[in-house]
Amino acid sequence: MTAPDAPAGVDVEKPSAARVYDWYLGGSQNWAVDREFGRRVEKVWPLIRPISRQNRAFMNRVVRAALDAGIRQFVDLGSGVPTAGNVHEIVRERLPADERASVVYVDYEPVAAAHSRVILEREHASDWAGLVQRDIRDPKALFADETTRRLVDWSEPVCLLMITVLHFIGPDDDPDGLMATYRAKLAPGSWLAVTHGTCRDDAPPDRAAEVKSFIDAYRDTSNPAYLRSDAEIRPWFGGWPLLDPGLSALPDWRPDRPVSALEAETRPFAWCGVAEKP
Ligand SMILES: C[S@@+](CC[C@H](N)C(=O)[O-])C[C@H]1O[C@@H](n2cnc3c(N)ncnc32)[C@H](O)[C@@H]1O
Repeated sequence: MTAPDAPAGVDVEKPSAARVYDWYLGGSQNWAVDREFGRRVEKVWPLIRPISRQNRAFMNRVVRAALDAGIRQFVDLGSGVPTAGNVHEIVRERLPADERASVVYVDYEPVAAAHSRVILEREHASDWAGLVQRDIRDPKALFADETTRRLVDWSEPVCLLMITVLHFIGPDDDPDGLMATYRAKLAPGSWLAVTHGTCRDDAPPDRAAEVKSFIDAYRDTSNPAYLRSDAEIRPWFGGWPLLDPGLSALPDWRPDRPVSALEAETRPFAWCGVAEKP
């Protein structure tokens, strides 16, 4: 499948993280430059596709768990190009028809934004789900945005999803300060869910070298990426209690089916966790 004409403002000369990730997941909202980059990355690090699927599956399990725990508001930062298992689809599947919930997707990438808007319109979900095209490094503007204000009541619990987005926030962007701002905005009972690329000490050396080449490849894109250790990620939860099973590898957070050998290989390369604000 080929992507439609690029919306205004889309740079199809340079790969973008949103569109390349769409390609990893088997989507169609990507251009030749993204596919070429994706193929190059896959050669460098063959686990990229399985880990992307694991990441998405973790996010889906978190949304279901949050709904089961009574949370009805979802803010998905760096939501990406819509693909199978979007937050509003999980909500629709899981929640009885007479119960209300709201979803805000946030992404600054024009293709992700345009495609999210189209899907929400087409699925008649725009009254309870919306797309905010903003940079998550500017939380003030995000909170003040008309769509955020229409859909989110910050005095009630929110499930704040930061799924494979924080590794695009570099050290110069003060990730610790940014996380503190988001944590402060949340009401007690809110959940903060994070996934982040890493390279644990127990990674096999050949695989560890592949991941480092993968990070090098992203230097040339609009979204340079950073790996972080658990010691760097853990403080972002602000000391809030982590829900069981704590900070874990993607396949190990409340798995809903047996872990395959290939999925098991992804363990040393991403951390995930969910904390609840006391
Ligand atoms: C790898 S995708 C992850 C998509 C989705 N969260 C998931 O895990 O399935 C990362 C997304 O974050 C977006 N992103 C990166 N930095 C961002 C920023 N500063 N503000 C808003 N979106 C950002 C990218 O455009 C991309 O769509």
